[in-house]
Amino acid sequence: MSDETTISFANLSLPQEGVAVVLAEEGPKLSSAAKDLDKESKGLLSRAANISGFKGKKESTVDLLVPAGLKFSRLVLMGAGKTADYSAEDWLNLGGTVRGLLTGKEGPTAHIVLDGASKGVTPEHAANFALGLALRGYKFGKYKSKPKKKDGAAAESNDKTLKKIVIHTADPRAATKLYASSRAIADGVTLARDLVNEPANVLGPAEFAARAKELTKLGVGVNVFTPKTLERLGMNALLAVGQGSARPSHVVVMQWKGAGAKGGDPVVFVGKGVTFDTGGISIKPAAGMEDMKGDMAGAASVVGLMHELAQRKAKVNAVGIIGLVENMPSGSAQRPGDIVAAMSGTTIEVLNTDAEGRMVLADCLWYAQDRFKPRALINLATLTGAVMVALGKEHAGLFSNNNELAGWLIDAGNTTGEKLWRLPLGPKYDKMIDSKVADIKNTGGRWGGSISAAQFLQRFVKEGTPWAHLDIAGTAMSSVDSEINRSWGSGFGVRLLDQLIRDHYEKH
Ligand code: BES
Ligand code: MN
Ligand code: ZN
Repeated sequence: MSDETTISFANLSLPQEGVAVVLAEEGPKLSSAAKDLDKESKGLLSRAANISGFKGKKESTVDLLVPAGLKFSRLVLMGAGKTADYSAEDWLNLGGTVRGLLTGKEGPTAHIVLDGASKGVTPEHAANFALGLALRGYKFGKYKSKPKKKDGAAAESNDKTLKKIVIHTADPRAATKLYASSRAIADGVTLARDLVNEPANVLGPAEFAARAKELTKLGVGVNVFTPKTLERLGMNALLAVGQGSARPSHVVVMQWKGAGAKGGDPVVFVGKGVTFDTGGISIKPAAGMEDMKGDMAGAASVVGLMHELAQRKAKVNAVGIIGLVENMPSGSAQRPGDIVAAMSGTTIEVLNTDAEGRMVLADCLWYAQDRFKPRALINLATLTGAVMVALGKEHAGLFSNNNELAGWLIDAGNTTGEKLWRLPLGPKYDKMIDSKVADIKNTGGRWGGSISAAQFLQRFVKEGTPWAHLDIAGTAMSSVDSEINRSWGSGFGVRLLDQLIRDHYEKH
């Protein structure tokens, strides 16, 4: 759920109420706001810093409750290290760290004074800091019952919950303007996280499609294909995966024409949207299967990205295509050994019904190139467990047929902190998926599982289409805690691809 706390900017005045957070840098060097408050409290802050051995190091704090001589319920002196060396990601993370300190028990308003001790804080820094605050504030709380009053009515949120964060900064007007587009990023990531966190009983293919359809409100053109249309299109690989489920498969096409008719061909994003992956007849073990509600994280990031682009009115033509299916075992499920013809005509021998994501993507990738002429074609998928064996949870796997695109993606990853590591493709790996009875088989054996999966996808990419596949199984769900995320679903990919578009595909 979106953080209901509002974030706004004000000038560099000294706050007088609620919680206040002021910065210090290594030394410790107090910011001027911290110095002023120290004076006002007759040296309380510097004495406390001294006693606790505070040096202003990153993530260290001096935390005072009801400080004598000041009107705050709480005053935090936040160590920031050396802000002169800060990257965009450092400001983002500092925002996350500060949001993590705010418990919401100290009153409805928090004031943060953003003035570096050594160098000024630019509006860009302030907006990034605010994005960090917003992202860390995310909580998926919709299934927690509200505390009840004695008469059984839901208690109103009490007046101690945090409602408002004010960031005091040198140029609040410029920061406010920039933050409008950061807010779009926060909302896009929030949407992606919400979709990933939602359980599969609530969010099946049809319900997911309905959520995507809501993007029409922002000016996105949304087409929802039901099984009849998918059959007519010949999306038999995708349909085969969904045929064991009582819930019909869907494909959604989202179009954002922010660069107009003259803006040229679109960048196309394709997402794996397996709303639950039991493995099908090649069923998964019970332990940990609940995590497979997140097997639609690729599709969630595509929807989050399209939302973000439309909300900030990005000057780019972009298309999002998501394949929504549920992979279930049943009397109508596909069997190991089945052979299906994909939309491209390529025949697939289904050796393992748990290698379903590539079958869904095969038809979506083909459709993308059949219907559009992508400037770049980028797919996101929680495709293989093997990518976690290779890269852990720090990097997503990147595969590409285009060095320029791969380089741009890696750079965008380093800027945003949504990091990618490139893995190889090649003819020897491609041979691994040759089938004896059909054109290809859907598994390539034990070794290099993420690579043979990527080779499978590449069989559906036309010569000359710049293409990249991001295997996000390790980064988009069951996520490790970070300064800007404490949610199970991280929303990985939204910030990364927003950055890619800003840097290379958007008219400025
Ligand atoms: N959705 C899974 C991959 C996955 C595993 C995502 C763990 C997130 C966490 C995918 O559909 C799958 O089952 N892949 C198999 C492929 C194998 C059968 C060739 C795998 O990784 O084991
Ligand atoms: Mn699977
Ligand atoms: Zn899967």
